Amino acid sequence: MSANRPAAVVVLAAGEGTRMKSATPKVLHAICGRSLVGHVVAASRELDPEHLVVIVGHERAKVSAHLAEIDPTVRTAVQHEQNGTGHAVRMGLEELGNSGVVLDGTVVVVCGDTPLLTGGTLRKLSDVHAADGNAVTVLTAEVPDSTGYGRIVRDAATGAVTAIVEHKDATDAQRAIREINSGVFAFDAQLLTDALGKVRTDNSQGEEYLTDVLGILREAGHRVGAAVAGDHREILGINNRVQLAEARKLLNERLLHVAMMDGVTVVDPASTLVDVTVTFERDSVVHPGTQLLGATHIATGAEVGPNSRLKDTTVGAGAVVDNTVADGALIGEGANVGPYAYLRPGTQLGTKSKAGAYVEMKNAVIGEGTKVPHLSYVGDATIGEFTNIGAASVFVNYDGVKKHHTTIGSHCRTGSDNMFVAPVTIGDGAYTAAGSVITKDVPPGSLAVARGQQRNIEGWVARKRPGSAAAQAASAAQQDGRETDAEQ
Ligand code: UD1
Ligand code: MG
Repeated sequence: MSANRPAAVVVLAAGEGTRMKSATPKVLHAICGRSLVGHVVAASRELDPEHLVVIVGHERAKVSAHLAEIDPTVRTAVQHEQNGTGHAVRMGLEELGNSGVVLDGTVVVVCGDTPLLTGGTLRKLSDVHAADGNAVTVLTAEVPDSTGYGRIVRDAATGAVTAIVEHKDATDAQRAIREINSGVFAFDAQLLTDALGKVRTDNSQGEEYLTDVLGILREAGHRVGAAVAGDHREILGINNRVQLAEARKLLNERLLHVAMMDGVTVVDPASTLVDVTVTFERDSVVHPGTQLLGATHIATGAEVGPNSRLKDTTVGAGAVVDNTVADGALIGEGANVGPYAYLRPGTQLGTKSKAGAYVEMKNAVIGEGTKVPHLSYVGDATIGEFTNIGAASVFVNYDGVKKHHTTIGSHCRTGSDNMFVAPVTIGDGAYTAAGSVITKDVPPGSLAVARGQQRNIEGWVARKRPGSAAAQAASAAQQDGRETDAEQ
């Protein structure tokens, strides 16, 4: 247990987020593979609080269901009407009190719409709070444009924080202040509870402002402090989709920075998108225009991209994945994928195997060294080792009702333009002729031929298409043939 483990973290997420203009509640919008509130909950977890409470209100069924999915130990407290941030925190503390929790120690309050906030910054806030013995410590930041934020008012002589004044309630002189309230605080639990009971609503919005607690505690003679965030971009609150995109870009840059410092070559960070859950090994390379999503892992020496989208996909060491879309695929060491391949869930490519140009695979296990080089669909199949599948083959897996499986052995050579009508099995070392529709099992080592015999009807063009360009070309070719024969 950490030395100053907070008694609780309270996450404010009851607001509607009107400016998102969305049917989805603001905090459920996602960047880099995680909801806004999910990012805040993850950062809060790093403090290892005894209780983590999220205040829900607008669309609370949806928000609560999402929270239960991402972190079942999160508690929720309902704020039926959004009467302000102070009121929201009061609802959280009442919920804990009603379920018998006695808070002793620190309560950290964060907003559900600040996805860039890190656990490290929360830790710094809580350390400053503990070290200075404050009743309240506010996380502040100097921002280039403080419009809309609560301003931090400091005593001119001592520099001590005296109050937070909301933009709408601020004087012109106060509006010129660039140090703002991030909306993140550490409080002494008992003093917070007492002070929340004294917060009034005589402000321009008629709300209970959490920020007023600071002035109330100060007037009662308690210590009030501030911790300044190292990077003001960390406290960016999302109110609209422009800020959502901005935050996505910043978080993506942060994730790629870490990857690059760990030895990953990211050729063009600006056109490379990653989720927080993506992992890399050293000396992997990501080419431009690539999106890596979900639980994707890129092993050492692997090259991904350009122009690829990989979701929940593992790329083995030294594999090359070019211009490919993959979802739920396992790509073996040294395998070669693309360009223009589509690997769907359940695809497992063995070591040094190949899924080449315009190849789609689904629920297919491909053995070591096996190649599907061109223009094919492989669905619901198992293929052994060192087999070659001819160009333009289709694993005919669906009869309109059920999906069926195809099994092809090791060291097989199947011809181009084959249809494998499942369920069907081809034994080890077997061959199939080009253009075959394989409907019956092929024993090991056999050649299967399943196509019509060729018949040439001589002179058909001269008889049926007299005078046509084809007839003239044929006649010229026959003439040439006779002259060549005569010369010999
Ligand atoms: C708040 C702060 C302001 C600070 C800014 C930082 C107050 C009074 N003002 O202003 O000083 O600079 O955040 O972004 O605290 N919420 C609820 N219930 C409510 C009201 C709000 O849960 O009744 C939640 C919102 O969903 C949001 C957060 O609290 O996640 C902040 O609310 P918001 O309305 O965005 O406050 P600001 O006006 O931005
Ligand atoms: Mg806000």
